Amino acid sequence: MYKACNMVSIITFQSAREGTGKSTIIANVAALLAATGRRVGVIDADLSTGNLHYLFGLRTTAISHTFNDYLLGMCSALHVACDVTPHLQLLQAHMPVSSESGRVFLLPASSNPRDFRRFLRQDYSIELITDGLLELAQQLELDVLLIDTQSGLKDELLLTLLSMAISDTLTIILRLDHGDYQGTGVLLDVGQTLGIPKVRLVVNQTASMIDPAQARTQVEQTYHCPVLAVFPHAEELAILGSADLFVCCYPAHPLTEHFHSMALALLSSVSRPSAGDHAY
Ligand SMILES: Nc1ncnc2c1ncn2[C@@H]1O[C@H](COP(=O)(O)OP(=O)(O)OP(=O)(O)O)[C@@H](O)[C@H]1O
Ligand SMILES: [Mg+2]
Repeated sequence: MYKACNMVSIITFQSAREGTGKSTIIANVAALLAATGRRVGVIDADLSTGNLHYLFGLRTTAISHTFNDYLLGMCSALHVACDVTPHLQLLQAHMPVSSESGRVFLLPASSNPRDFRRFLRQDYSIELITDGLLELAQQLELDVLLIDTQSGLKDELLLTLLSMAISDTLTIILRLDHGDYQGTGVLLDVGQTLGIPKVRLVVNQTASMIDPAQARTQVEQTYHCPVLAVFPHAEELAILGSADLFVCCYPAHPLTEHFHSMALALLSSVSRPSAGDHAY
């Protein structure tokens, strides 16, 4: 387990299979953490899809440097970081507590498949993750760093394991689907082997007939691991199709309340409380 003494809380998100909702949850929770005044970094370390930037309203043509470029030694991490806070203005107008100091810095991945193939062919220095991201967190004065990773342990195995190894918390997203069950158990084992201080589960896309409290208990008993949140399937989110932040578009929707609860649960799990945290 590699973790330097640092004030930033690093949370890596993983799932056994694709499409569980990692990017959606990360982006919306990041926005809500910023709305509490936190300085939040978000890294799109899922280089195979490279689509997190769409959720923050960032067009591919507006991106000059990507996380792929950083790993290939073509630029500094600071060059990749885009301040996407202006995209959250709509959200701040609806928040009971909004703070000037809250910011979201996104390090987008390239959505060009050629860049992903190139990444797979070339080596990169491990220190770019182990030391480089901690340095970035210091430069940007981050409170929280959220890392989106490729689902499962596949092509980007080293990048995923390194991201986990520098994390304070591994958050595994799963659906109530047999296809997710075994892989989730494997990820929990990996988290334990790496000595990650905290491992948390999030259940997403539950059917409307499922009782969330029952689902939470069942999953916690099955995996012996705390569940941070249970998100029901929401048609509005499915229709939005990763084109924007749900919490900005639907501030009064019940699902937005779930995102608020998850942001608070993450904060109380990893970090020091702040004056506005009780205000949701
Ligand atoms: N609770 C939900 N209700 C309805 N739709 C959802 C929900 N959560 C996520 N989705 C939708 O599911 C799709 C997949 O979500 P997302 O891209 O966040 O998953 P992912 O785990 O990041 O996928 P990948 O592994 O491919 O990166 C998106 O269209 C998203 O809008
Ligand atoms: Mg994703």
